[in-house]
Amino acid sequence: MPILYNDATREFHLQTDKTSYIFNILKNEQLGQLYYGKKLRHRDSFERLFHIEEMPNTACVYEGDLVFSLDILKQEYPVYGTTDFREPAYQVLQQSGSRITNFVYQHHIIQQGKNKLAGLPATYVEHDEEATTLEISLYDEEIDVEIQLSYSVFEQLNAITRSARFINHGREEVNLTRAMSASIDLPDADFEMVHLSGAWARERHMKNRKLVPGLQSISSTRGTSSAQQNPFLALKRPSTTEHHGDVYGVSLVYSGNFLAQVEVDHYDVTRLMIGINPFDFNWLLESGESFQTPEVVMVYSAEGLNDMSQTYHKLYRSRLARGTWRDRERPVLINNWEATYFDFDEKKILELAKSSKELGVELFVLDDGWFGKRDADTTSLGDWFEDKRKLPNGISQLAKNIADLGMKFGLWFEPEMVSEVSELYKTHPDWIIHVPNRNSSHGRNQLVLDFSRQEVVDYIHGLVAGVLRDAPISYVKWDMNRYMTEIGSLELPANRQREVAHRYILGVYSLYERLTSEFPDVLFESCAGGGSRFDPGMLHYAPQGWTSDDTDAVERLKIQYGTSMVYPLSSMGAHVSAVPNHQVGRITSLKTRAEVAYFGAFGYELDVTKMDDEEKAIVTAQIAFYKENRSLIQQGQFYRLASPFADDGNVTSWMVVSDDQSEAIFGYYQVLAKPNPGYARAFFKGLHPEFEYVIDGIDDTFYGDELMEAGLQLNRYRQDKHPSDFSSIVYKLTRV
Ligand code: DGJ
Repeated sequence: MPILYNDATREFHLQTDKTSYIFNILKNEQLGQLYYGKKLRHRDSFERLFHIEEMPNTACVYEGDLVFSLDILKQEYPVYGTTDFREPAYQVLQQSGSRITNFVYQHHIIQQGKNKLAGLPATYVEHDEEATTLEISLYDEEIDVEIQLSYSVFEQLNAITRSARFINHGREEVNLTRAMSASIDLPDADFEMVHLSGAWARERHMKNRKLVPGLQSISSTRGTSSAQQNPFLALKRPSTTEHHGDVYGVSLVYSGNFLAQVEVDHYDVTRLMIGINPFDFNWLLESGESFQTPEVVMVYSAEGLNDMSQTYHKLYRSRLARGTWRDRERPVLINNWEATYFDFDEKKILELAKSSKELGVELFVLDDGWFGKRDADTTSLGDWFEDKRKLPNGISQLAKNIADLGMKFGLWFEPEMVSEVSELYKTHPDWIIHVPNRNSSHGRNQLVLDFSRQEVVDYIHGLVAGVLRDAPISYVKWDMNRYMTEIGSLELPANRQREVAHRYILGVYSLYERLTSEFPDVLFESCAGGGSRFDPGMLHYAPQGWTSDDTDAVERLKIQYGTSMVYPLSSMGAHVSAVPNHQVGRITSLKTRAEVAYFGAFGYELDVTKMDDEEKAIVTAQIAFYKENRSLIQQGQFYRLASPFADDGNVTSWMVVSDDQSEAIFGYYQVLAKPNPGYARAFFKGLHPEFEYVIDGIDDTFYGDELMEAGLQLNRYRQDKHPSDFSSIVYKLTRV
């Protein structure tokens, strides 16, 4: 049984195949935390492993008891103001102005399966045996408010999910000024914090920093999870590497403003928490209402970062992503954006489609510029009607013509936005996120629609669904190109204005839910000016996302490596684009560009009509290679071998291995050539030590243990004996 409760010692023991998570009911009936880490054998009590004693200079809960202080106890869902001086998981502001609460244990239930989270994306089960759920009810009698803490244990997938629900049973309204999804107290602070930070075109770069006393955090205030910080944080031991050592990961299934925070206290206890950013947040909970926090997915590994990532990949690929496309091989696509930008017409699109079809491309994606009068990014968002100047026969006919070529057709939308120059804005200038009598700041010349309002979501649903109903559309790219400012909604009263950012995201989720249910065969790809909302929340609706607008092969090494910390290869849109690269001006070979993009949901984004025959032959072979190997790439186990974030960072290497270990694909990339470089050796991972493998292009066979322990001497076999800048090697390994 993955969840055990001992009535005598009042301890909960949650177990996955490799992890134990243990907490208890404290003397004051609140919850304390005991242990999180490598799996422990179950026994009646773990509390005796942890000792607290009278400490100086603190405050204690009970008169005459100088030991029981929340200041020195590890907590499960901590609150401020009653002897714990660290930052709390939640705070409830009452009518009296008081923020003091006393949520005590009421009861709990343990059951097979996992419940849905109302209105929010979350991991799920297909069969009840896949997870066991514990729901603990905490209750504050004084204000008649309940907190339900939910824990689901995916025993075999080795992950534990958590969330909290606040229910106001009382007659008085209260305000949640903070409602984090989870908090974990760890007994020491010998950790480094790993996070994925960046900006547009350099999303999810890995950052590492040693914990120091006090607060350290990452967060978003931008209205989306953001390119600047991803809603993920890991604590690893300083000695932990990709393949050895302890690491604790927390990943928030949420696409809005978040906070992931670590506080190291004066006894080096580490408090890690994650949830909706409390900054600029307040939720009014009227009598009878409830508030559900997003879900956090906790993964502990004793075997390094790569093992943690593999757990996230498996869970997110199979029990967070949903729908027809979850397990299906993703089509090789071509997107016209970098080929044409706004400057296209039906003839040009059909030429592109025809040429790419000849190369083996399966899906044609028409990007921005097909609607309203959109010749530039200054106009027409919200007017989701085809531009007859460019497409005289409409989207529907274009999609049919493309279908006649034997290709699928996909279309770009940016549903959450409106241009000031648009019919929609003319009719409904009040439908934007804004504050009356204040300037409405622009981003990419556009304004954000108020998705906290049902009528706005309904209207956009009508338009988008109408286009999808009218034409054979197999794919939707859902973009979102600016962050939120002057956050306010005309619909909500003054005391609910701090709910707008969260309500907006709920509106986005509800539209995704409606469209994905109504069009189950459409493959949705999320996008936000590249990867500015590449998060687990989006993955629930869109099984792939546009990883970054930066398609330069060298830049992509860091972006894809960092993204793989949490997200599976099947979720990472990766395209081969033209050179000089449009983002950084770099010239890399067609080979290297494809060999980086193979490790994702593969496609092209350039003008194939301008390619010469030699390039076309190369692309044809690349597409054939990807098609042959895509189920391995999209569903296999991913191993990171050499990091672009290492001190030198000149070499990146990774590989993907099939579950049965009979096949693998290895990638090796060197940024700059070096004079007189010595011997490059690659140590493979994940192979079966006793299987014999043949490597395409090498006239020899190797046992798995040889490749993993002795490594493959790359110089000996590589064709380019003197590799130039931006060189790459991809090997396919097959069991003999
Ligand atoms: C930003 C996206 O990331 C690009 O791929 C492209 O779709 C543009 N928007 C279109 O405006």
